[in-house]
Amino acid sequence: MEKLRIRGGAKLEGKVRISGAKNAALPAMATALLTPEVVQLERLPLVNDILTMQKLLGDLGADVELHPDHSATLQARLIKSCEASYDLVKTMRASVLVMGPLLARMGRARVSLPGGCAIGARPINLHIKGFQALGAKVRIEHGYIEVTTDQLKGAEILFDRITVTGTENLMMAATLASGHTILRNAACEPEVTDLAALLNSMGARIEGGGTSTVHIDGVSELHSTTHCIIPDRIEIGTFLVAGAITNGTLELENVNTSLLESTVGKLRETGVRIDVTDNCLRVSGAKVPVAVDVGTKEYPGFATDMQAQYMTFMTQAHGASVITENIFENRFMHASELIRMGADIKIEGSRAIVRGATPLSGANVIASDLRASASLVLAGLVAHGDTVIDRVYHLDRGYEKIEEKLRSVGACIERLK
Ligand code: EPZ
Repeated sequence: MEKLRIRGGAKLEGKVRISGAKNAALPAMATALLTPEVVQLERLPLVNDILTMQKLLGDLGADVELHPDHSATLQARLIKSCEASYDLVKTMRASVLVMGPLLARMGRARVSLPGGCAIGARPINLHIKGFQALGAKVRIEHGYIEVTTDQLKGAEILFDRITVTGTENLMMAATLASGHTILRNAACEPEVTDLAALLNSMGARIEGGGTSTVHIDGVSELHSTTHCIIPDRIEIGTFLVAGAITNGTLELENVNTSLLESTVGKLRETGVRIDVTDNCLRVSGAKVPVAVDVGTKEYPGFATDMQAQYMTFMTQAHGASVITENIFENRFMHASELIRMGADIKIEGSRAIVRGATPLSGANVIASDLRASASLVLAGLVAHGDTVIDRVYHLDRGYEKIEEKLRSVGACIERLK
């Protein structure tokens, strides 16, 4: 199993080009199932989850070509299977994003129920309730969920709680339903907005994508398109923290600052300097960052996917900060590894109390999930001595060439085969 070794202490200085957003690229790839025509995507991040989605779409009958220039050509002329296997779903729960498109195009989808994962139970009951509202029949047996319909019919769907992939699944399904669908309490994440724009460019008729109420008029078919994926706001946030925590100066290119105003605002509260130009962010660390509380919220609130990275930063801030995780029930797995490196963190239910600034010392640590891995990389950048992170496959799911990007701005980091 590959590891990363980081020798802490370097100030990061230089330019980093941000990749396309993994969480926009995954639903975007799934839209190829909605049409027999070609879907061309630009600025795809070459990360493992994209490869998993390529394999899944291939199993369903789609041709998916990933090109070195970060573009992809997808075409599902014919769907040869409507089943997403347990092996694939257990490696990537975002595989559930094929349900909506398969149901809409083929009238059937059979997907292994995604078990829980490190950060929580993460049921898909709200996806299922939405499909039923559109007229699908649901059968759950042998660990699979099967949804079938002769024809989806538009309906009004109120999500009991905000769900990003739930909104995306139902939006995709409703594009080919007969009649009008309204999604209420829909997710407003930028990745949802991007999906709505992509679907409309394929001939869908969606209004309000990216707002809490989405209107969709079903159409009979969708056609080919070319779409450029939005930048990855979580990668941007991760590198903003990397520049801040090492007290360096980083210029992040290919960014869209409107995607992460809450992260920028919170980091500025701690004393970090962040300058914004049209599509570039320049971060320079605060000599003495100040501890500031944060609570994760759905967009435009502070992203849960930035919580782990922020916690690492707060170990180096002066004072006590309270980090409250409001989205997932078990997203503090990184805390125990940070404590092993010398951090002062106490977990009380959904709250983590971090006291800083505490010097961190390099250690052998284990990554538990994608964003926890990022928080350990950030800790390694400032720890005294060497940090070796095991199970970096978690990191490779969502960050493209992270050690190359960090090395290019002065980090002392290498991958151990
Ligand atoms: C998406 O996951 C992202 N993944 C996650 O990013 C992100 O953390 C999450 O949204 C929240 O922003 C992708 O977009 C591929 P949810 P998703 O449905 O859609 C509960 C990363 O690090 N819920 O918005 O699975 C759920 O348990 C990943 O890139 C139900 O109860 O998250 C959670 O507590 C991690 N029933 C909350 O809602 C449902 O049917 C939000 O989940 C669906 C969700």
